[in-house]
Amino acid sequence: MNTFRPLCLFLLAAAISCISISCNKHEASSGSGSKVVGFSQEDEESDWRTAESQSIKSEAQNRHIDLRFADAQEDQEKQIKAIRAFIAQRVNAIILAPRVETGWDQVLREAKNAKIPVVLVDRGVSAPEDLYVTLIASDFVEEGHRAADWLAKHTNGKARIVELQGTAGSAPAIDRHKGFADELAKYPDMKILASQDGDFQVSKGKEVMAAFLKSVGKENITAVYAHNDNMALGAIQAIQEAGLTPGKDIMVVSIDGIHAALQAILDGTINCVVECNPLLGPQAFDAIDDTLAGKTIPKRTVQKDELFDKSNLTPELLAKRKY
Ligand code: AHR
Repeated sequence: MNTFRPLCLFLLAAAISCISISCNKHEASSGSGSKVVGFSQEDEESDWRTAESQSIKSEAQNRHIDLRFADAQEDQEKQIKAIRAFIAQRVNAIILAPRVETGWDQVLREAKNAKIPVVLVDRGVSAPEDLYVTLIASDFVEEGHRAADWLAKHTNGKARIVELQGTAGSAPAIDRHKGFADELAKYPDMKILASQDGDFQVSKGKEVMAAFLKSVGKENITAVYAHNDNMALGAIQAIQEAGLTPGKDIMVVSIDGIHAALQAILDGTINCVVECNPLLGPQAFDAIDDTLAGKTIPKRTVQKDELFDKSNLTPELLAKRKY
């Protein structure tokens, strides 16, 4: 019997199957064979968010990861489209910084069905937990508690407050309001007189604060609580333009810890900043590596954050900060 022909056919089939496996692998990695990761960023509305994007981009570079970056410019629909594009490109993993809490179930399920792990950074979603591998973020409720607690201690529990809220429907806006209001409930003489969305932006923070100064009356406001530093910086401008001294006539408390806000503490125009660390790149890529290696990782990693005011902030400390 001639065994030569079947042997040739077997070798040919084996070769075709090797080529096909290597092609599939190639689709999920870049030309150099490194990992491909898609990163959907909700916007670049604040200095904090620019620092977050930078941390993820530079960590990808350090690890020779092919990062596909998509800025959704405040549009959740664009984020959903970007995630679908990453799935179609068969990336190895997706990092998502979601704009709002709701509306993610369907697209996260599509990623799960395609066996592409999704790591959430900085903001949580209200989708079932099995649809993402982990959330790496600060505790926004706790940030609100700490801001209110600082204000209570520095006003002897008596304050009329206006609140500049972050993007409506976003986890930090919801949780920072909740944490602040819960803590305030302990103090009968501390009240929020007005509260409005300033979308985490300097210009809107200024606009809303200028409106508060007119509607509430500048003499009636003890303090402004801003859900982020950029809105606080906008509020400072509005307070100055109204002929008042921010930090003295009206106290300013905010969240994030960007360089300009900490400088404002040294200058006396902001009284207190609760830190929210945006440098999430290393942890996000560790989570991806561990997940792709089949390790079980915690569903939630909470960032350790500081609180700054004039009692603990020095120019030397500020000079050492990375954002
Ligand atoms: O999700 C974190 C918040 O979003 C930051 O406080 C803010 O500056 C940002 O844009």
